Amino acid sequence: MEVVLETTRLILREMTPADLDFMAEMLAHPEVMRYYPKLHTRDEARDWIERQMRRYREDGYGPWLVMSKATGEPIGQVGLAEQEVDGARETEVGYILHRPLWGRGYATEAAKACLDYAEEIGKTRIVALIRPVNEPSMRVAARLGMVFEKLSDFKGLPHNVMVAALPRVGCA
Ligand SMILES: CC(C)(COP(=O)(O)OP(=O)(O)OC[C@H]1O[C@@H](n2cnc3c(N)ncnc32)[C@H](O)[C@@H]1OP(=O)(O)O)[C@@H](O)C(=O)NCCC(=O)NCCS
Repeated sequence: MEVVLETTRLILREMTPADLDFMAEMLAHPEVMRYYPKLHTRDEARDWIERQMRRYREDGYGPWLVMSKATGEPIGQVGLAEQEVDGARETEVGYILHRPLWGRGYATEAAKACLDYAEEIGKTRIVALIRPVNEPSMRVAARLGMVFEKLSDFKGLPHNVMVAALPRVGCA
């Protein structure tokens, strides 16, 4: 399994079909999926993993599986994904943590590493697409230094388009 990024507490690696139990549990959790259109079945979680694996092949990156170094267990999904927003191609940083792992700074830590990676591969702009009601996610974007650009319709729902301009200067 290919390790892509490492932070103080986390490893981000490509997900594989062997991660289905964890992904199916997380994607079926009502609190985790609260701001998504629906909970996912196990079959849909399998399709989800295949979609990310296709992104690794086609784009060279995608939403990765986040592993805790302390436990060796998966804790969520954080990474980069190509999206279409208002007819334009954008690279999104996205983060989903399983419910027991909220409130420890893991999403911000992993997403920061993704922004560093995006900068390394020459990206000049990364967006986060966040439903305005999703306050924990907005706080992550703020901690990443992302700024509000506009409200856009994304997959049929209004989303804040939060932007990180790269390279970042003087960002903690
Ligand atoms: C969005 C989501 C990842 C945010 O999770 P989170 O745990 O709040 O974010 P972080 O992992 O960055 O943790 C930050 C929180 O941990 C706290 N924290 C505790 N210990 C910490 C530590 N050692 N280091 C940093 N922060 C720490 C911070 O104070 C912060 O709390 P606050 O936001 O209440 O101030 C999570 O709510 C989630 O998975 N939601 C469901 C999926 C989703 O909606 N994703 C976003 C779609 S746009």
